Amino acid sequence: MQQSPKTIKLTDFEKDVCEGLRDFPKHLSSKYFYDETGDELFQKIMGMPTYYLTQAEYKILNHHKVEIAEMFSSKGPFELIELGAGDGKKTKVLLEELCEQQSDFTYIPIDISENSLEQLTNSVTYELPQVNIDGFQGTYFEALKKLGNRNQKRKIILFLGSNIGNLKHNQAIDFLSEIRQLMQPNDILFLGADQKKNPQTILDAYNDKEGITAQFNKNILHRINKELDANFDLDKFLHWENYDPENGTAKSYLVSKEDQIVYLEKLNLTIHLKAWETIHTEISQKYDDDMVHWLGKEARLTIHRIFSDGKEAFKDYVFTF
Ligand SMILES: C[S@@+](CC[C@H](N)C(=O)[O-])C[C@H]1O[C@@H](n2cnc3c(N)ncnc32)[C@H](O)[C@@H]1O
Repeated sequence: MQQSPKTIKLTDFEKDVCEGLRDFPKHLSSKYFYDETGDELFQKIMGMPTYYLTQAEYKILNHHKVEIAEMFSSKGPFELIELGAGDGKKTKVLLEELCEQQSDFTYIPIDISENSLEQLTNSVTYELPQVNIDGFQGTYFEALKKLGNRNQKRKIILFLGSNIGNLKHNQAIDFLSEIRQLMQPNDILFLGADQKKNPQTILDAYNDKEGITAQFNKNILHRINKELDANFDLDKFLHWENYDPENGTAKSYLVSKEDQIVYLEKLNLTIHLKAWETIHTEISQKYDDDMVHWLGKEARLTIHRIFSDGKEAFKDYVFTF
């Protein structure tokens, strides 16, 4: 019998963990991977050759930086808003080029991870002191709400790294519709989307031999242990990746290797996991042009331009309306 949480006013993290672990099948949101340890592990993942996404998008941005920067600045001053900015390594290519072209803009990185945002702000301030940076810590939805109330300045919205793939199609449509509502004529949404490809390449990207992705996936349990005084034994879980080439959906799971009971003291919550029961932790959707076109159409957005890495492994889509 599972107990109810004793806390009445729960944080979003506590509420989501509580709901996700009491649900069937169990699930936890990938947005909670990113604490200091998670940020570090993700940076390691981005450096691995099997995680082709980062290199492919870097190549696109680097190769087309002049054209992209000109497109961003062609209609005057703007706010460059980046959703889920992470370490901003790829974005810095564009920031440098925008500075080179003496564009008039403010860079507004948004990230749920306070640590990521602080590091990014410090590194941009140090490496590109001429960039006016004004970051915001929070979720995508909180950020969009805040931006909606802010001003009518021209907006270029960056959503790189195929972060959109962490959302199910209905969530992605809601999200894109919210972005669409924020946009004025001349605003742009610049969206990175990982493409359908050889299923093995995709599986390898999320299942490296070194076990870094496994550590990243398990970090969510480590974080629950740390922040909610829980006693998950990480060795009793298996990182499992699954890719369905029919619908283009990759899914990450933590699989319980044995029958076990876990106690989350801060929530006064006892969780029972049966042997081989799963906790679903992440979805990484893969796309093709038709799928991206459909998502955009549902959100009343139009694809204006597509940039590819040359191998069709990854694409950046420019949306207007
Ligand atoms: C996969 S990383 C990609 C980072 C960067 N966009 C890139 O392409 O390298 C995802 C980033 O988005 C942030 N993030 C994840 N879910 C989020 C959410 N719901 N709201 C705001 N930020 C989020 C994470 O903290 C992390 O820095």
